[in-house]
Amino acid sequence: MTYVVVDACIKCKFMDCVEVCPVDCFYEGENMLVIHPDECIDCGVCEPECPVEAIRPDTEDDLEKWLEINQKYASEWPNITVKGDPPADNKDFEEETGKFEKYFSPNPGAGS
Ligand code: SF4
Ligand code: F3S
Repeated sequence: MTYVVVDACIKCKFMDCVEVCPVDCFYEGENMLVIHPDECIDCGVCEPECPVEAIRPDTEDDLEKWLEINQKYASEWPNITVKGDPPADNKDFEEETGKFEKYFSPNPGAGS
C-alpha cells in the first residue's frame, strides 16, 4: 500500500506534510503536492499533519484515480522536502469540492 494526496490539497497546499516524511517522497506541483507511491514506506505520520485531510491510505475505496495521479506526477514534478509559503488565499478553498475538475494544474512547482 501507499498513502496518496487527493484533491483537498489543490489550492490549499499547506505543506506541513513534507516536514515529517522520513523518506522525502513528496513532489511539488503548481498548486498541490503528490506522494511517490514507490518511495512511500506507509509510516502514516503525514496523514494527521494535513489540516484539510488531503492525505489518505490507498486502502480506502475509490482512490484508484488518485493513485494514478500521484504515480504520474511524482515522476514529473520536483521533490520537495522543506515547507514553503502556502498560497495566501488557501483558506478560501478548504471547504470546496470538485477541485480537480476546476483547478488541477499539471505544471510543476518549484521544489526544494
Ligand atoms: Fe512519507 Fe510516511 Fe507519509 Fe509515506 S506515509 S508520504 S513515508 S510520511
Ligand atoms: Fe497538501 Fe495537506 Fe500537504 S494541503 S501540501 S497534503 S499538508
